[in-house]
Amino acid sequence: MKNICLLGSTGSIGTQTLDVVAKHPDELRCVALAVRRSVGTALAQARQFGVHQVAVADELAANSPEAQELRAWCEAGGGFLRFGAQAVEELCLLPDVDVVVNALVGAAGLRASYLTLEAGRVLALANKESLVVGGDLLMPLAARLNGLRGDNGALMPIDSEHGAIYQCLLGEDMAEVTKLWVTASGGPFRGRTREQLTGITPAQALAHPTWNMGAKISIDSSTLMNKGLEVIEAHHLFSMPYEKIEVVVQPQSAIHSMVEFSDGSVKAHLGTTDMRIPIQFALSYPQRWEAPVAPLDFRTLGTLEFAAPDTDTFRCLALARQAGEIGGTLPCVMNAANEVAVAAFLAEQLPYLGIAECVEDAMEALGSQPVESLDQLAAIDAASRARARQFVAGQ
Ligand SMILES: NC(=O)c1ccc[n+]([C@@H]2O[C@H](COP(=O)([O-])OP(=O)(O)OC[C@H]3O[C@@H](n4cnc5c(N)ncnc54)[C@H](OP(=O)(O)O)[C@@H]3O)[C@@H](O)[C@H]2O)c1
Repeated sequence: MKNICLLGSTGSIGTQTLDVVAKHPDELRCVALAVRRSVGTALAQARQFGVHQVAVADELAANSPEAQELRAWCEAGGGFLRFGAQAVEELCLLPDVDVVVNALVGAAGLRASYLTLEAGRVLALANKESLVVGGDLLMPLAARLNGLRGDNGALMPIDSEHGAIYQCLLGEDMAEVTKLWVTASGGPFRGRTREQLTGITPAQALAHPTWNMGAKISIDSSTLMNKGLEVIEAHHLFSMPYEKIEVVVQPQSAIHSMVEFSDGSVKAHLGTTDMRIPIQFALSYPQRWEAPVAPLDFRTLGTLEFAAPDTDTFRCLALARQAGEIGGTLPCVMNAANEVAVAAFLAEQLPYLGIAECVEDAMEALGSQPVESLDQLAAIDAASRARARQFVAGQ
């Protein structure tokens, strides 16, 4: 039995993680939940899954009637309801937690990832921004924990692309890997020109063709920033130099990623387009359990297409790759500016093409320095957000 602490339980990844927990009650138990402010849904989840340790990031949510009810439920079960960002992070350190599923959004998830690995717990990571911003700090912790565990399971990626690459690499010699092919759906605006992206609305950008996801990652998918973040994530997770990481558009999203080897062989990972498959693998490793969804029927799949990404139109991919290649604190700058720009676009304060411009402006203004600590990254994150807000205000 693995005891799970689920950060971001009310989101797209969070609810699908609970589906997996419900399907495998003999293998998985949820012992702690965290949300930002969806107290009512957290209460329903806590009751359904028998969870009595809950944290809510937003302290303003503490006085609602639902919060009173949730507190009574938690305390009746010998647990607690706590508020604030620190309360969310401290869930990772509870003595009964084996695995932390980090499905928070943005750089806000970094500290939880760090504390989890530092405390020797398995990190099942959906929050890719953790690795983009703090990969230089997280990967040494993961390597140390892998050494202690004697396997490679300390940091399990939930992102479907990285879960796919992870599986293609099982049993392989990393010295024989010549390329990681990270697949991309291309997002809702695949094939459009820059001119055709002028005036794109939030509703248009939120309508992803193949995945049903939270708002931030949906916008990132439409700009291809999501793929840029994933390139940096792959660099850290698999210790792969950037020149060996290539993005290919695969509009059907049936191939979740591929690995090429020195003898010219390529392994691809395919399956139904459903995040419960990679979530379950991250939790079942080193085993495989019964499928959480119907398997792919190749007879109905039709054609598989491939294309190079258009980085002139979708500049966020090129900017993210540039940030990753320069390294240091530049990915932190890039990520923070992107978070501000995406929020401003969703609030209709920034045009769609302004997202890349805002990111580029912050990258040019703040530059890079070697990564030293979480506190240093937090300060740089804050500086980049301030710069990005200035950019938005000037629009
Ligand atoms: N969705 C996907 O298919 C997918 C695939 C691969 C990777 N990912 C990655 O997984 C992460 C989560 O994505 P998502 O699509 O599941 O997001 P989402 O649907 O927006 O859900 C986010 C969840 O995190 C909570 N949350 C957000 N910020 C928080 C904070 N500062 N403190 C505490 N709780 C917080 C939210 O609570 P409230 O409900 O209270 O707001 C919600 O439960 C992202 O990093 C994303 O890039 C997602």
